[in-house]
Amino acid sequence: MIVDQHGRRFRNLRVSLTAACNYACTYCVADGKRLQPASRELSAEALVKAVRLMIRAAGIEKLRITGGEPLLSSKFDDFLPAVMVLPLSDVAVTTNGQFLVRRQEVIRKAGLKRINISLDTLDPGRFRLIARSGDLDTVLAGIDAMIDMGLKVKINMVPMRTANADQILPMLEFCLDRGIELRYIELMNMGHLKYNAAYQRDFIGMDELLTTIGTRFTFARTDAPYDSTSVRFNVPGYGNFGIIANESEPFCSSCTRLRLSSNGLLYGCLSNSNHHDINALLEAPEHEALVRLQGVLEKAIADKQTAFTGEVTVMKFIGG
Ligand code: 5AD
Repeated sequence: MIVDQHGRRFRNLRVSLTAACNYACTYCVADGKRLQPASRELSAEALVKAVRLMIRAAGIEKLRITGGEPLLSSKFDDFLPAVMVLPLSDVAVTTNGQFLVRRQEVIRKAGLKRINISLDTLDPGRFRLIARSGDLDTVLAGIDAMIDMGLKVKINMVPMRTANADQILPMLEFCLDRGIELRYIELMNMGHLKYNAAYQRDFIGMDELLTTIGTRFTFARTDAPYDSTSVRFNVPGYGNFGIIANESEPFCSSCTRLRLSSNGLLYGCLSNSNHHDINALLEAPEHEALVRLQGVLEKAIADKQTAFTGEVTVMKFIGG
């Protein structure tokens, strides 16, 4: 097992199935840009092999399937059932929800239990301004389909001063009513926002979120697992919500995440653009690949930072 001087090890793997996305959210991509697939994306089979190796070499226990938009890729239909039978304690998917209704049979058959859906507003016009694509009703139908299938649903919302600050309470009400855990994600200083005045303008921190929520609800902070990224709160009689407070309460010192991009680059830290190409390694026989992967993982863990300073690395292709 590879452990660094802060006691951190890799436990959670996030795999991006494709860098492509059907949305172009303002916090993710610059004006006029669209996310395309990476030039040489790995097949579902190669990605499954990578996960299998990572379980053995790094002690990965939990897997999150991301993108781009993972449900945009036909690889999803092969990848999901294949990873569901691997020795993992947890498999989850992060999606924008646009294709959930269409893909519900694949999800049902594979037996997925948890899904995180990104949704920043309940106003259809605002939705189009933020996502610059997609359709709110389609996402809401997707959320209902997942709840009906018995999945545990979480919703991710990125509150932004000029785009959806008025949705902080309506979104929480919507989620608490449906037994969904809402997670507010503090705007991250990533990608095109890194050198952009829009970041300071739109950032809403945990204190302000809690003040707003306190005008309607009483809540108390509750325990979250050691390597959880979210600060969790309980609203007595209703349910829980969380805040991913990467600015207000950074969680770098207990981070256990490792990320694999759709073109075979391994990232040890979201706040560091260093990465390690494992394409050649994936073509080697499994026993040899395992030995080589150990060396790569030692380098990747050394990439971990002790504070989140943001990076020009783009969330879009390593999926947050
Ligand atoms: N800041 C905060 N959250 C972001 N996401 C993407 N870009 C950013 C950013 N700059 C979130 C999306 C999605 C998740 C995968 O990452 O809202 O829920």
